[in-house]
Amino acid sequence: MTNQAPSSPGTMWGGRFDSGPVELMQRINASHPFDRKLWQQDIRQSRAHAEMLKGQGLISASDHQAIVEGLTQVEAEIASGAFSWSDELEDIHMHVEHRLTEIAGPAGKRLHTARSRNDQVATSMRLWVRDTLDQLDAGLRALQSALLDHADRHAGSIMPGFTHLQPAQPVTLGHHLLAYVEMLDRDRGRIRDARDRLNECPLGAAALAGTPFPVDREETAQALGFRQPMRNSIDAVSDRDFVLEVLSTAVIAAVHLSRLAEELVLWSTPAFGFVSLPDAFSTGSSIMPQKRNPDAAELVRGKSGRILGAFVAIATVLKALPLAYAKDLQEDKEPLFDAADALAVSVAALTGMMEALSFNTAAMRAMAEVGHPTATDLADWLVSKAEMPFRDAHAAAGRAVRLAEERSCRLDELSLSDLQSVVPEANADVFDVLGIEASLGRRTSAGGAAPALVRLAAAAARARLT
Ligand code: ARG
Repeated sequence: MTNQAPSSPGTMWGGRFDSGPVELMQRINASHPFDRKLWQQDIRQSRAHAEMLKGQGLISASDHQAIVEGLTQVEAEIASGAFSWSDELEDIHMHVEHRLTEIAGPAGKRLHTARSRNDQVATSMRLWVRDTLDQLDAGLRALQSALLDHADRHAGSIMPGFTHLQPAQPVTLGHHLLAYVEMLDRDRGRIRDARDRLNECPLGAAALAGTPFPVDREETAQALGFRQPMRNSIDAVSDRDFVLEVLSTAVIAAVHLSRLAEELVLWSTPAFGFVSLPDAFSTGSSIMPQKRNPDAAELVRGKSGRILGAFVAIATVLKALPLAYAKDLQEDKEPLFDAADALAVSVAALTGMMEALSFNTAAMRAMAEVGHPTATDLADWLVSKAEMPFRDAHAAAGRAVRLAEERSCRLDELSLSDLQSVVPEANADVFDVLGIEASLGRRTSAGGAAPALVRLAAAAARARLT
């Protein structure tokens, strides 16, 4: 590393400087290694800005023509990898403008009229986040669709329902998976809300106070698909609440994904044996030949941590930052980009796993019998057939469970006389409700686990998706 200052000051702002920044200053300042991700959004807004400048008579038609052609060439060079990057040019915005000026000559230098990198970077970020939200929404929709395929097929496949991860009451696999479809529905709703709120255009705010040039902010906002120009120029360049809002949405989605991932990890261990993970999404062990590890699910579970980390990082950057722009804001990008990548790959991996895995319904059915999951049905029967207060019925059913445990049998395997020894109010009819299928079929309250309802719920969810 050298601390020698380059011989010539930076071309974009060197007018009042005698010498340029030392290499170390360039290194801490440079954002192009990561903000080059914004290149398409940056070029897109430059086109809109140039068009507006021409329309307002702020640049000539021939300069506009040279800018447009130059931007097309820059675009092609970046896309092909031929573009050259240098720490002497801080960020993507300076790189594009510098190269444009090499290509288009003086016309390139006119593009930055009535614009600052402060409104430029805010605009690029909003455009990038908007595009990313659209991709994320499509990804979550695909995951919902994969879940719905199983939910449909397994609307009546019995599985143990848990609370505290202890056997609770029988449910169906379809019902369980539809719970995730609901969570993802809300995640997508949050994406829609965040997208709508951020969809305003900072362009024209310039450095922080607006510009004396007669810009047409409505035109640039419209050209870029924004609902309207941002109302306050200081707010436009200084706030990144849209980044935080999107990250909070991403955190919640990642938490949902991590719960599904965790269930896949649990379900694939032989103690459960509910799913066989596809080869394509499993790994082996370099020492234990028998292993089939759910690494993809574990990574989805683990990546939720860095997504939350990104939220915390950016909230901390924004906290107590005085208005308007400050370079701290450049620190919004890496965590956001990293979180977006982590979430996108998590959604894709879970979708892939869901599409390829198969459920072992026999193992689920067998485990659904364990732990007396129809004890509530016995209590409910005593309430409705023997007019017992629920608290007394609960105690009576508890005595029956204890007896079944002593006999090492299921509740519906107790003899009537055994049952009556602890629950005198019982009669032969009670056995109608003590089986798993009977219990499940009676869960008919709205939103309940009865297979007939699950079938309808899956169809309704499918209809919402299309
Ligand atoms: N690279 C900067 C960022 O990401 C762009 C804005 C720079 N503005 C400035 N006044 N230095 O935030």
